[in-house]
Amino acid sequence: MQPKAITVQELYARFARGEDLSKLESVLIEGWVRTNRDSGSIGFIAINDGSCFKNVQVVYDNTLANHDEIAHVLTGASLLIEGVVALTPEMKQPFEIHAKCIAVLGDVDPDYPLQKKRHSFEYLREIAYLRPRTNTFAALYRVRSVLALGIHEFFQGKGFVYVHTPEITANDAEGAGQVFTIATNDAEGKLSTDDFFGKKASLTVSGQLHVEAFAMAFRDVYTFGPTFRAEKSNTPRHASEFWMIEPEIAFADLEDDMELMEETIKFCIRYVLEKCPDEMAFFNQMIAPGLLDKLNKVLETPFTKMTYTEGIELLQKAIAGGKKFEYNKIEWGVDLQSEHERYLTEEVVKGPLFLYNYPKEIKAFYMRENDDGKTVAACDCLVPGEGEIIGGSQREERYDRLKAKMDALGNTEGLEWYLNLRKYGGCIHSGFGIGFDRLLMYLTGVNNIRDTEPYPRTSSALKY
Ligand code: 4AD
Ligand code: MG
Repeated sequence: MQPKAITVQELYARFARGEDLSKLESVLIEGWVRTNRDSGSIGFIAINDGSCFKNVQVVYDNTLANHDEIAHVLTGASLLIEGVVALTPEMKQPFEIHAKCIAVLGDVDPDYPLQKKRHSFEYLREIAYLRPRTNTFAALYRVRSVLALGIHEFFQGKGFVYVHTPEITANDAEGAGQVFTIATNDAEGKLSTDDFFGKKASLTVSGQLHVEAFAMAFRDVYTFGPTFRAEKSNTPRHASEFWMIEPEIAFADLEDDMELMEETIKFCIRYVLEKCPDEMAFFNQMIAPGLLDKLNKVLETPFTKMTYTEGIELLQKAIAGGKKFEYNKIEWGVDLQSEHERYLTEEVVKGPLFLYNYPKEIKAFYMRENDDGKTVAACDCLVPGEGEIIGGSQREERYDRLKAKMDALGNTEGLEWYLNLRKYGGCIHSGFGIGFDRLLMYLTGVNNIRDTEPYPRTSSALKY
């Protein structure tokens, strides 16, 4: 057993509760050096122990037995410090630790890639195993952790049942052909894609179809886990592995679905603002100036709703007025590019936007056909800076319609169970998928998914 150190988080919490920390006889702190400056008689080490965003300042002097060693300790080294807390009401930080002794637990080589200066995101991606030690990534991955719990609190607080949908599936839930197929090796190392299960298996692109079945039992359900897509889109928003939150609600139409989407996003904003004030203030100051104002404004404003058809008209009007897009041929029926989505959400609406009732040809097979015979009750939630962060729809609950569509696409085989849900007490139902990593981009202002994911996987990039 190691001696029990107190965490910096605990010190700050006790201080906030009004405890007089200077009355503590002595404290033990374990952590990593962020900076160390020594002026001969007195030295200062900023220590981060990982328990919170804040560092604590350790002050040492030349009475330390190993003063020379400590004076030369480099950024990144791990230390054990024993000292007393001194209150410093006149300084930026409310207290500091006056060291009685300091032991170097883990020294650091001079080639340590994280030096005191600011490093670029690109550089840090190359050393993904070290970047959680930087302010930016420490903040990002703590918010990521907190947000994951927030998702569960939100849905379970509303009585939703959490369903662990499978990662290995026999179908391409989105029908977009972007699956990673699973292969096994035989003794000679020959790859086989159907020996193991007796059929082709792949990593799931979405838990939706499986979670729909549970909605027909529990009414309100959600799944939240990793999903995989073999898209070669080399953009700041696409990863091959990402986490998705997929609620599914029975007896609910697209309007109800949009209401839940908005409530979910607003809950997540409030949650991270409340639970991670230091991290969010850091993003606001260092990464995305204006972030807090933006998020607070989103909280106060109802999301705009616009049909796909209205969106197309606005884009055509913009082009007629001289606006240049890379894809400038906008007509009813085209799939919108990210630049179009961003124009609508950033320049027209200037906030989150629900674009709904899309042409049926460009959307997935399970979406409910509207009475116009041309569109489906689908909705994407678009946000400034990013474009789509949510895709959802009311599901086709009519057996004959769904079967006809699936037969035409040739994907009925293996999905008979999914069709059966429409025969065995089916009802109208809806759901959506939020890309968790994209949501984190939105909430923190970090604009590349390669940064919001701890170990990103994208095509041609698999380093760690
Ligand atoms: O719009 P998508 O493809 O919808 C579905 O998968 C539905 N089955 C969801 C549902 O109704 N239950 O994906 C949903 C969201 C997108 O809006 C996006 O935020 C995220 O998942 N997403 C990705 N995130 C990162 N990298 C990728 N390659 C992504 N593809 C989708
Ligand atoms: Mg989508």
